[in-house]
Amino acid sequence: MDIANTIEQTRKFISMARQQGKSIGLVPTMGALHEGHLSLVQHSLSECDFTVVSIYVNPTQFGPHEDLEKYPRPFDKDCKACREQGVDLIFAPGPDDMYVDPHLTWIDIEKLGDGLCGQSRVGHFRGVCTVVAKLFNIVLPDVAYFGQKDAQQLAILRKMSSDLNFPIEIRSCPTIRESDGVAMSSRNQYLASEQRKQAVCLLESLKLAVELIKSGQRNTLAIQREMSEKIEQFSDAKIDYISIVDNELLQPVDTVSGSVLIAVAVWIGSTRLIDNIMVDLAV
Ligand code: PAF
Repeated sequence: MDIANTIEQTRKFISMARQQGKSIGLVPTMGALHEGHLSLVQHSLSECDFTVVSIYVNPTQFGPHEDLEKYPRPFDKDCKACREQGVDLIFAPGPDDMYVDPHLTWIDIEKLGDGLCGQSRVGHFRGVCTVVAKLFNIVLPDVAYFGQKDAQQLAILRKMSSDLNFPIEIRSCPTIRESDGVAMSSRNQYLASEQRKQAVCLLESLKLAVELIKSGQRNTLAIQREMSEKIEQFSDAKIDYISIVDNELLQPVDTVSGSVLIAVAVWIGSTRLIDNIMVDLAV
């Protein structure tokens, strides 16, 4: 496995792989790799000849009061995990390498970024789209892998990629969960042990929504009310949002029909966690 710290080195490794006729898979990450990331890596390894993992804590997707400084950066451990998996190349640019001052070009998506996490994380998706477009231009992958856990990010990147004609397949991979059902996230490690136990409230509320829909409830306000009551049973939990949206443009729906995304964001103490579930009544 090679580790490239500059864009130039990365381009050299990529062009060598291309000369050998290899297909390229990209797994964009901010490091602190867990089983969720490794499942994306495994998908890439099984589908592409050359797998690149980017590790970059992208400052432009963090708000001024968010956790940029304290975001975990266990780089050596991440490299070890990638090496064990059989990753071909890690692209790990330094903090300032991706944005040369003055950086004046941004990718902003309309509509899809307004609700859900976009409401409390203003500017977040502009940072995500911009850095991912840069990564696409640097690595020029055939396929890029993202987790369903970040469903809004996935929908946005799919749309960005299609709107901007990137010749890249965007592949979504299922959410990987801990044994108690909590979705894997690099931020879970911020939780104290009592808080960690309460993190199950996200999935419990989503499961409740699915049960309600199965039993015939279609009114989204009623479903959201019951989900909210479920989460409020957990003393450390504070709801950021509970949303039921259409699966394409992520707009709120009044009635569950066709394919909907049910998404929640909950503060557990000072840690904000997200989770979601897709319900497809057409299936
Ligand atoms: O999902 C993440 O870890 C990040 O948002 C991403 C896609 C790597 C962009 O920085």
